[in-house]
Amino acid sequence: MDTKNLPVGVFDSGVGGLTVAKEIMKQLPKEKIIYFGDTARVPYGNKSRETVIAYSRQIVGFLLAKGVKAIVVACNTASAFALEAIAGDVPVPIIGVVKPGARTASKTTKNGRIGIIGTEGTINSGIYTEYLSELDPGISVFGKACPLFVPLAEEGWLDDPITVDVIRRYITPMLEKDIDTLVLGCTHYPLLAESIRKVAGDNVNLVNPALETALELARILREKDLLSDGSDVPHHRFYVSDGAEKFRSFANSILPCEIIETRDVNVKVFGQP
Ligand code: DGL
Repeated sequence: MDTKNLPVGVFDSGVGGLTVAKEIMKQLPKEKIIYFGDTARVPYGNKSRETVIAYSRQIVGFLLAKGVKAIVVACNTASAFALEAIAGDVPVPIIGVVKPGARTASKTTKNGRIGIIGTEGTINSGIYTEYLSELDPGISVFGKACPLFVPLAEEGWLDDPITVDVIRRYITPMLEKDIDTLVLGCTHYPLLAESIRKVAGDNVNLVNPALETALELARILREKDLLSDGSDVPHHRFYVSDGAEKFRSFANSILPCEIIETRDVNVKVFGQP
């Protein structure tokens, strides 16, 4: 098959990366996606850098074995901890979600006060603060780890009163800092966007890095002459490390296409890319 028509690999610790896959489907409707959700090992957010790097290497190895032409790390935690460590060993273009998210936030803020919510790993890595101050040293960044958000999203409690209470508890101190922009710095969080909006109010812009990530993917594929020519039906494939059926029904509730099949795979057998 022509390299152009090979699929794009997308991965996350679970369902969160579907928010990025959805945006790629919208912006690049001719591309085929191979998605991997590491549902057996979610969450990544409270794991060490070394563990997240090891898991990411296995998944990248799996995606490369499936013949992908590019990889999107649709997980902020893996983008923060593993992207730089593994990118040099990966023979295809690989991008993460943090740089696109930081870029969007810096363009969105008017008062230079930005809140970042994410996993403990992402927030403690300081990566958003680093990129944002490179983009504009005058920006003030307020980070908050929200470890309960991922289990709530994985459970599908997207608009539940309990979810709204948990959100309020995490983000109220940040809202008191007069932020005008809030980055959803974990790919699971856009699933909770309606509930986050209820707490944050209409004066705070919510930034979902997915759009800018999909646009960056489009730019890179175009530059490298890797955009699909559309001669093939975009047939997406989904793999998880556990609970394929639960994943499939959740994915069907948020994606624009129907997923017929999701397969369980053991990624541990895939080592170094
Ligand atoms: N969705 C991921 C992220 O963007 C991982 C969340 C988790 O597994 O803790 O950080």
